Amino acid sequence: MDATGRLDGEPVPGCRPKPSGDRSVPDLEDQDRSWSRAASRYDDLFLDPFRPGVENPLLNAIRAIPDPASKTVADLGCGTGPLLPHLIGRFGRVVALDFAPKMVELAKKRLKASAIPGGDRVEFVVRPMDRLDDFRGAFDVAVAVNSIVMPDVRDIDRTLAAVRASLRPGGVFLGIMPAMDAIHYHTMLLNDEALDRGLDPEEAERHATFQGEHHFYEFAFGRFEFQGLRQKFWQPFEIEHRFAKAGFPKVELEKVLYPWDETITGGPTFADFPRSWDWSFRAVAP
Ligand SMILES: C[S@@+](CC[C@H](N)C(=O)[O-])C[C@H]1O[C@@H](n2cnc3c(N)ncnc32)[C@H](O)[C@@H]1O
Repeated sequence: MDATGRLDGEPVPGCRPKPSGDRSVPDLEDQDRSWSRAASRYDDLFLDPFRPGVENPLLNAIRAIPDPASKTVADLGCGTGPLLPHLIGRFGRVVALDFAPKMVELAKKRLKASAIPGGDRVEFVVRPMDRLDDFRGAFDVAVAVNSIVMPDVRDIDRTLAAVRASLRPGGVFLGIMPAMDAIHYHTMLLNDEALDRGLDPEEAERHATFQGEHHFYEFAFGRFEFQGLRQKFWQPFEIEHRFAKAGFPKVELEKVLYPWDETITGGPTFADFPRSWDWSFRAVAP
Protein backbone atom coordinates (compact mmCIF):
# COMPACT_ATOMS: atom_id res chain seq x y z
CA MET A 1 0.00 0.00 0.00
CA ASP A 2 1.35 3.48 -0.77
CA ALA A 3 1.22 6.70 1.29
CA THR A 4 -2.22 7.59 -0.04
CA GLY A 5 -3.64 4.29 1.18
CA ARG A 6 -3.96 2.83 -2.30
CA LEU A 7 -2.98 -0.72 -3.08
CA ASP A 8 0.32 -1.10 -4.92
CA GLY A 9 -0.17 -0.55 -8.62
CA GLU A 10 -3.73 0.77 -8.26
CA PRO A 11 -4.05 3.84 -10.49
CA VAL A 12 -4.69 7.14 -8.73
CA PRO A 13 -7.99 8.64 -9.98
CA GLY A 14 -7.41 11.65 -12.19
CA CYS A 15 -3.71 10.91 -12.76
CA ARG A 16 -2.19 8.91 -15.52
CA PRO A 17 -0.43 5.77 -14.25
CA LYS A 18 3.34 6.23 -14.04
CA PRO A 19 4.85 5.26 -17.38
CA SER A 20 6.52 1.91 -16.67
CA GLY A 21 8.20 1.75 -20.08
CA ASP A 22 6.66 -1.72 -20.47
CA ARG A 23 4.08 -1.64 -23.26
CA SER A 24 4.04 -5.41 -23.72
CA VAL A 25 0.64 -7.07 -23.82
CA PRO A 26 0.12 -9.67 -21.05
CA ASP A 27 -0.07 -13.28 -22.21
CA LEU A 28 -3.15 -15.46 -21.74
CA GLU A 29 -1.72 -17.18 -18.70
CA ASP A 30 -1.24 -13.83 -16.87
CA GLN A 31 -4.80 -12.93 -17.74
CA ASP A 32 -6.40 -16.18 -16.52
CA ARG A 33 -4.70 -15.59 -13.15
CA SER A 34 -5.99 -11.99 -13.08
CA TRP A 35 -9.53 -13.13 -13.92
CA SER A 36 -9.36 -15.80 -11.20
CA ARG A 37 -8.26 -13.13 -8.72
CA ALA A 38 -11.21 -10.93 -9.78
CA ALA A 39 -13.74 -13.76 -9.48
CA SER A 40 -14.78 -13.29 -5.85
CA ARG A 41 -15.22 -9.50 -6.38
CA TYR A 42 -16.85 -9.92 -9.77
CA ASP A 43 -20.29 -8.56 -8.86
CA ASP A 44 -18.70 -5.43 -7.30
CA LEU A 45 -16.38 -4.77 -10.24
CA PHE A 46 -18.64 -5.39 -13.23
CA LEU A 47 -22.06 -4.17 -14.34
CA ASP A 48 -24.51 -6.98 -15.06
CA PRO A 49 -25.89 -6.66 -18.63
CA PHE A 50 -28.91 -8.76 -17.57
CA ARG A 51 -29.95 -6.59 -14.63
CA PRO A 52 -33.42 -4.99 -14.65
CA GLY A 53 -33.57 -1.73 -16.60
CA VAL A 54 -31.06 -2.84 -19.26
CA GLU A 55 -32.45 -3.26 -22.78
CA ASN A 56 -30.55 -6.34 -23.91
CA PRO A 57 -31.31 -7.76 -27.38
CA LEU A 58 -29.22 -10.85 -26.62
CA LEU A 59 -31.93 -12.56 -24.58
CA ASN A 60 -34.45 -12.16 -27.42
CA ALA A 61 -31.88 -13.54 -29.88
CA ILE A 62 -31.43 -16.58 -27.61
CA ARG A 63 -35.22 -17.04 -27.30
CA ALA A 64 -35.53 -16.82 -31.12
CA ILE A 65 -33.33 -19.91 -31.72
CA PRO A 66 -35.69 -22.51 -33.20
CA ASP A 67 -36.00 -26.00 -31.64
CA PRO A 68 -33.44 -25.39 -28.87
CA ALA A 69 -34.17 -28.67 -27.08
CA SER A 70 -32.39 -30.52 -29.90
CA LYS A 71 -29.38 -28.17 -29.83
CA THR A 72 -26.03 -27.70 -28.10
CA VAL A 73 -25.14 -24.26 -26.76
CA ALA A 74 -21.77 -23.10 -25.43
CA ASP A 75 -21.34 -20.21 -22.98
CA LEU A 76 -17.78 -19.12 -23.82
CA GLY A 77 -16.12 -17.15 -21.01
CA CYS A 78 -19.02 -18.04 -18.74
CA GLY A 79 -17.53 -16.25 -15.71
CA THR A 80 -19.64 -16.76 -12.59
CA GLY A 81 -22.45 -18.02 -14.84
CA PRO A 82 -25.13 -15.28 -15.04
CA LEU A 83 -26.21 -16.45 -18.51
CA LEU A 84 -26.60 -20.13 -17.58
CA PRO A 85 -30.13 -19.87 -16.13
CA HIS A 86 -31.25 -18.54 -19.55
CA LEU A 87 -29.75 -21.58 -21.32
CA ILE A 88 -30.49 -24.47 -18.94
CA GLY A 89 -33.88 -26.07 -19.53
CA ARG A 90 -34.08 -24.47 -22.98
CA PHE A 91 -31.16 -26.13 -24.82
CA GLY A 92 -30.60 -29.89 -24.96
CA ARG A 93 -26.91 -29.65 -24.05
CA VAL A 94 -25.11 -26.78 -22.29
CA VAL A 95 -21.31 -26.39 -22.26
CA ALA A 96 -19.81 -23.62 -20.08
CA LEU A 97 -16.17 -22.72 -20.67
CA ASP A 98 -13.80 -20.30 -18.96
CA PHE A 99 -10.01 -20.23 -18.59
CA ALA A 100 -10.15 -18.94 -14.98
CA PRO A 101 -10.61 -21.89 -12.57
CA LYS A 102 -11.99 -19.63 -9.86
CA MET A 103 -14.73 -18.32 -12.17
CA VAL A 104 -15.81 -21.87 -13.00
CA GLU A 105 -15.76 -22.81 -9.32
CA LEU A 106 -18.08 -19.89 -8.50
CA ALA A 107 -20.37 -20.64 -11.46
CA LYS A 108 -20.76 -24.25 -10.23
CA LYS A 109 -21.46 -23.07 -6.67
CA ARG A 110 -24.03 -20.54 -7.84
CA LEU A 111 -25.78 -23.10 -9.99
CA LYS A 112 -25.92 -25.61 -7.15
CA ALA A 113 -27.36 -22.98 -4.78
CA SER A 114 -30.01 -21.97 -7.34
CA ALA A 115 -31.16 -25.60 -7.68
CA ILE A 116 -32.34 -24.94 -11.27
CA PRO A 117 -33.59 -28.23 -12.71
CA GLY A 118 -30.99 -29.52 -15.19
CA GLY A 119 -28.22 -27.39 -13.64
CA ASP A 120 -26.28 -30.53 -12.74
CA ARG A 121 -26.03 -31.48 -16.43
CA VAL A 122 -24.02 -28.38 -17.48
CA GLU A 123 -20.61 -29.49 -18.80
CA PHE A 124 -17.94 -27.17 -17.39
CA VAL A 125 -14.61 -26.82 -19.20
CA VAL A 126 -11.59 -24.90 -17.86
CA ARG A 127 -9.44 -23.71 -20.75
CA PRO A 128 -8.78 -20.79 -23.10
CA MET A 129 -11.40 -20.15 -25.73
CA ASP A 130 -9.01 -20.50 -28.65
CA ARG A 131 -8.64 -24.24 -27.85
CA LEU A 132 -11.86 -25.74 -29.15
CA ASP A 133 -10.45 -28.50 -31.42
CA ASP A 134 -12.42 -31.27 -29.69
CA PHE A 135 -15.63 -29.27 -30.23
CA ARG A 136 -15.12 -28.84 -34.00
CA GLY A 137 -18.60 -28.53 -35.60
CA ALA A 138 -20.22 -29.44 -32.25
CA PHE A 139 -22.06 -26.25 -31.32
CA ASP A 140 -25.36 -25.04 -32.76
CA VAL A 141 -25.08 -21.86 -30.74
CA ALA A 142 -22.06 -20.18 -29.11
CA VAL A 143 -22.52 -17.22 -26.78
CA ALA A 144 -19.77 -14.90 -25.51
CA VAL A 145 -20.86 -12.15 -23.14
CA ASN A 146 -18.13 -9.57 -22.57
CA SER A 147 -15.55 -12.34 -22.82
CA ILE A 148 -13.89 -11.67 -26.21
CA VAL A 149 -11.74 -9.12 -24.41
CA MET A 150 -8.21 -10.52 -24.83
CA PRO A 151 -5.77 -7.59 -24.81
CA ASP A 152 -3.67 -9.12 -27.61
CA VAL A 153 -5.58 -8.98 -30.89
CA ARG A 154 -3.74 -12.10 -32.12
CA ASP A 155 -5.52 -14.04 -29.33
CA ILE A 156 -8.80 -12.49 -30.44
CA ASP A 157 -8.26 -13.51 -34.08
CA ARG A 158 -7.32 -17.07 -32.99
CA THR A 159 -10.36 -17.22 -30.70
CA LEU A 160 -12.83 -16.02 -33.34
CA ALA A 161 -11.44 -18.56 -35.83
CA ALA A 162 -11.76 -21.32 -33.19
CA VAL A 163 -15.36 -20.32 -32.42
CA ARG A 164 -16.16 -20.30 -36.15
CA ALA A 165 -14.74 -23.85 -36.47
CA SER A 166 -16.67 -25.06 -33.38
CA LEU A 167 -19.99 -24.12 -35.00
CA ARG A 168 -21.83 -26.47 -37.32
CA PRO A 169 -22.76 -24.89 -40.71
CA GLY A 170 -25.64 -22.51 -40.02
CA GLY A 171 -24.66 -22.33 -36.34
CA VAL A 172 -25.10 -18.97 -34.62
CA PHE A 173 -22.58 -16.93 -32.64
CA LEU A 174 -24.15 -14.41 -30.26
CA GLY A 175 -22.78 -12.14 -27.59
CA ILE A 176 -21.86 -8.75 -26.22
CA MET A 177 -18.69 -6.69 -26.73
CA PRO A 178 -17.73 -3.78 -24.44
CA ALA A 179 -18.11 -0.60 -26.54
CA MET A 180 -15.20 1.81 -26.95
CA ASP A 181 -17.37 4.30 -28.86
CA ALA A 182 -19.69 4.53 -25.83
CA ILE A 183 -16.74 5.83 -23.79
CA HIS A 184 -16.21 8.60 -26.38
CA TYR A 185 -19.96 9.35 -26.21
CA HIS A 186 -19.86 9.62 -22.39
CA THR A 187 -16.79 11.88 -22.67
CA MET A 188 -18.67 14.18 -25.04
CA LEU A 189 -21.63 14.47 -22.65
CA LEU A 190 -19.37 15.11 -19.64
CA ASN A 191 -17.49 17.81 -21.57
CA ASP A 192 -20.69 19.52 -22.81
CA GLU A 193 -22.20 19.46 -19.33
CA ALA A 194 -19.10 21.17 -17.90
CA LEU A 195 -19.12 23.81 -20.68
CA ASP A 196 -22.82 24.45 -20.00
CA ARG A 197 -21.91 25.11 -16.36
CA GLY A 198 -19.55 27.86 -17.56
CA LEU A 199 -16.19 26.08 -17.30
CA ASP A 200 -13.66 27.15 -19.91
CA PRO A 201 -12.75 24.55 -22.57
CA GLU A 202 -9.54 23.48 -20.85
CA GLU A 203 -11.26 22.98 -17.49
CA ALA A 204 -14.19 21.21 -19.13
CA GLU A 205 -11.85 18.73 -20.81
CA ARG A 206 -9.99 18.17 -17.54
CA HIS A 207 -13.33 17.49 -15.86
CA ALA A 208 -14.39 15.01 -18.59
CA THR A 209 -10.99 13.28 -18.42
CA PHE A 210 -11.23 12.90 -14.64
CA GLN A 211 -14.92 11.90 -14.44
CA GLY A 212 -14.56 9.59 -17.44
CA GLU A 213 -11.52 7.93 -15.75
CA HIS A 214 -9.51 8.19 -18.94
CA HIS A 215 -6.37 6.98 -17.19
CA PHE A 216 -7.80 3.45 -17.39
CA TYR A 217 -8.12 3.54 -21.20
CA GLU A 218 -5.86 3.19 -24.23
CA PHE A 219 -8.10 4.97 -26.69
CA ALA A 220 -6.14 4.36 -29.89
CA PHE A 221 -6.01 0.58 -29.54
CA GLY A 222 -9.27 0.14 -27.65
CA ARG A 223 -8.15 -1.24 -24.31
CA PHE A 224 -9.15 -0.77 -20.69
CA GLU A 225 -6.90 -1.67 -17.77
CA PHE A 226 -8.26 -1.95 -14.25
CA GLN A 227 -7.01 -3.92 -11.26
CA GLY A 228 -4.65 -6.08 -13.32
CA LEU A 229 -7.26 -6.90 -15.96
CA ARG A 230 -6.40 -5.58 -19.38
CA GLN A 231 -9.41 -5.84 -21.64
CA LYS A 232 -10.26 -5.10 -25.25
CA PHE A 233 -13.01 -2.50 -25.82
CA TRP A 234 -14.51 -2.55 -29.30
CA GLN A 235 -15.40 -0.12 -32.06
CA PRO A 236 -18.20 -1.47 -34.29
CA PHE A 237 -15.96 -1.41 -37.37
CA GLU A 238 -13.44 -3.59 -35.57
CA ILE A 239 -16.10 -6.17 -34.72
CA GLU A 240 -17.02 -6.33 -38.43
CA HIS A 241 -13.35 -6.48 -39.49
CA ARG A 242 -12.28 -9.26 -37.11
CA PHE A 243 -15.43 -11.36 -37.69
CA ALA A 244 -14.85 -11.17 -41.46
CA LYS A 245 -11.21 -12.24 -40.97
CA ALA A 246 -12.40 -15.23 -38.93
CA GLY A 247 -14.80 -16.40 -41.66
CA PHE A 248 -18.09 -14.86 -40.56
CA PRO A 249 -19.19 -13.04 -43.73
CA LYS A 250 -21.73 -10.88 -41.90
CA VAL A 251 -22.25 -9.71 -38.34
CA GLU A 252 -25.39 -7.93 -37.16
CA LEU A 253 -24.85 -5.35 -34.42
CA GLU A 254 -27.40 -3.94 -32.04
CA LYS A 255 -26.96 -1.79 -28.93
CA VAL A 256 -27.40 -3.11 -25.40
CA LEU A 257 -28.84 0.02 -23.77
CA TYR A 258 -28.07 0.95 -20.16
CA PRO A 259 -30.25 3.13 -17.95
CA TRP A 260 -28.79 6.50 -16.96
CA ASP A 261 -28.49 5.50 -13.31
CA GLU A 262 -25.84 5.97 -10.60
CA THR A 263 -23.67 3.19 -12.07
CA ILE A 264 -22.56 5.65 -14.79
CA THR A 265 -20.74 8.83 -13.70
CA GLY A 266 -23.17 11.73 -14.06
CA GLY A 267 -25.82 9.24 -15.22
CA PRO A 268 -29.04 10.92 -14.01
CA THR A 269 -27.82 14.29 -15.45
CA PHE A 270 -27.97 12.77 -18.94
CA ALA A 271 -31.49 11.32 -18.66
CA ASP A 272 -32.72 13.40 -21.65
CA PHE A 273 -30.04 12.04 -23.99
CA PRO A 274 -29.90 8.68 -25.80
CA ARG A 275 -28.64 5.95 -23.49
CA SER A 276 -25.12 4.53 -23.33
CA TRP A 277 -24.44 1.09 -24.76
CA ASP A 278 -22.38 -2.00 -25.39
CA TRP A 279 -22.52 -3.90 -28.68
CA SER A 280 -24.56 -7.07 -29.00
CA PHE A 281 -23.69 -9.17 -32.06
CA ARG A 282 -25.16 -12.03 -34.07
CA ALA A 283 -23.19 -13.90 -36.74
CA VAL A 284 -24.00 -17.09 -38.64
CA ALA A 285 -21.36 -19.64 -39.64
CA PRO A 286 -21.59 -20.34 -43.40
C1 LIG B 1 -16.13 -9.75 -18.11
S1 LIG B 1 -16.16 -11.43 -17.70
C2 LIG B 1 -17.75 -11.94 -18.33
C3 LIG B 1 -18.25 -13.17 -17.68
C4 LIG B 1 -19.65 -13.61 -18.06
N1 LIG B 1 -19.73 -13.94 -19.46
C5 LIG B 1 -20.64 -12.54 -17.67
O1 LIG B 1 -21.39 -12.08 -18.53
O2 LIG B 1 -20.70 -12.17 -16.49
C6 LIG B 1 -15.03 -12.16 -18.86
C7 LIG B 1 -14.87 -13.65 -18.64
O3 LIG B 1 -14.17 -14.17 -19.76
C8 LIG B 1 -13.17 -15.05 -19.31
N2 LIG B 1 -12.12 -15.05 -20.34
C9 LIG B 1 -11.40 -13.97 -20.77
N3 LIG B 1 -10.53 -14.36 -21.72
C10 LIG B 1 -10.72 -15.70 -21.90
C11 LIG B 1 -10.11 -16.67 -22.73
N4 LIG B 1 -9.11 -16.35 -23.59
N5 LIG B 1 -10.53 -17.96 -22.66
C12 LIG B 1 -11.52 -18.31 -21.80
N6 LIG B 1 -12.13 -17.44 -20.96
C13 LIG B 1 -11.74 -16.14 -21.02
C14 LIG B 1 -12.72 -14.47 -17.96
O4 LIG B 1 -12.12 -15.43 -17.13
C15 LIG B 1 -14.05 -13.97 -17.40
O5 LIG B 1 -14.70 -14.97 -16.65
